[in-house]
Amino acid sequence: MTTTTRLTGREVRLVERPHGEPRLDQFALVHTEVPEPGDGQVLVRNLWMSVDPYMRGRMDDAPSYIPPFRLGAALEGGAVGEVIASRDPAIPAGATVSHFLGWRDYAVLNAPDVTVVDTTLAPPAAYLGALGTTGLTAYAALTRVAPVRRGDTVFVSAAAGAVGIVAGQLARRLGAVKVIGSAGGPDKAARLVTDFGFDVGLDRRKGPIGPQLAQAAPGGIDVYLDNVGGDHLEAAIDAARIGGRFALVGAISQYNATEPVHGPRNLYTAYSKELTLRGLLVNSYFPLFPEWIEQAAGWLADGSLREEQTVVSGLEQAPAALLGVLRGANIGKMLVRLEEG
Ligand SMILES: NC(=O)c1ccc[n+]([C@@H]2O[C@H](COP(=O)([O-])OP(=O)(O)OC[C@H]3O[C@@H](n4cnc5c(N)ncnc54)[C@H](OP(=O)(O)O)[C@@H]3O)[C@@H](O)[C@H]2O)c1
Repeated sequence: MTTTTRLTGREVRLVERPHGEPRLDQFALVHTEVPEPGDGQVLVRNLWMSVDPYMRGRMDDAPSYIPPFRLGAALEGGAVGEVIASRDPAIPAGATVSHFLGWRDYAVLNAPDVTVVDTTLAPPAAYLGALGTTGLTAYAALTRVAPVRRGDTVFVSAAAGAVGIVAGQLARRLGAVKVIGSAGGPDKAARLVTDFGFDVGLDRRKGPIGPQLAQAAPGGIDVYLDNVGGDHLEAAIDAARIGGRFALVGAISQYNATEPVHGPRNLYTAYSKELTLRGLLVNSYFPLFPEWIEQAAGWLADGSLREEQTVVSGLEQAPAALLGVLRGANIGKMLVRLEEG
């Protein structure tokens, strides 16, 4: 099937690399003509796009595990959309698919680069949150990288964020007896306990996190899921019990740094406490998607896993949403709902 009319759409481009915190004028919204899909390709109208802290790293022209965004080109990122034209027999028009060409109204993709998602299991946006890389990150962290065992005390930083909310609930399900989270501000810290099943919510803005964590876990912590790095990682090393397991997932406190950052000053205690500190890249755990989605979709459906989203409307608001997630403007998954261009 081919499209008969030429579509125009909008895309968000990076026009200047930030030094420190990004600014809105470093992005541009541009109208473009959408190409026709070729053989083996699909044309997708994006409905939702994911806004993720790692995108900040791609704005720098620096070596990384993932190439930098190109200046003058559209940004990229997780998205869910509807196939509106298909030239591949495996992907029918009308299918809802996830893929990595967000930041634009329409995307032309090779069929192997899209995944058909089951919208009878969960709404499309869930595939960017609990059923997407967000949820998979929490699952891989707490079952493979720093496995939670029955009776553990678990600490999660950026706990009111996308990964954090899933991680706290999953830690409990895996048998943790105490789940401690940190978040920015008294409201978020309170919601960790009232809405998301944490036992204690620490407010990172109230004061240093180390004393707060020591008070919340006088006997120490067994598992730490680190979304933040810096002061939080140092506090967790101090609080760790012998044999503590750390999943190093992110270091958002350092993403806008303009100077080289120092490592945790107490890292040397990792040897005497026999800690395991292990990094995680979610891409390495994509084979776990089927087992994760099967479980998590059931929990979402029966209400035992609670998702939360902060939704911003309109592609033109996507840069502000990215600045927002880096500042803690979100609770749960930061998403942009796209409108037709
Ligand atoms: N390794 C991987 O494959 C992988 C995959 C997904 C995500 N990640 C990482 O996991 C972390 C969470 O990602 P997410 O998508 O779930 O984002 P998120 O937690 O929904 O959003 C980021 C949160 O970080 C907190 N934050 C911002 N600046 C901070 C600071 N200086 N100190 C402490 N907290 C700060 C803010 O919450 P508060 O203001 O409430 O603290 C903000 O809401 C990020 O570091 C991300 O890069 C890694």
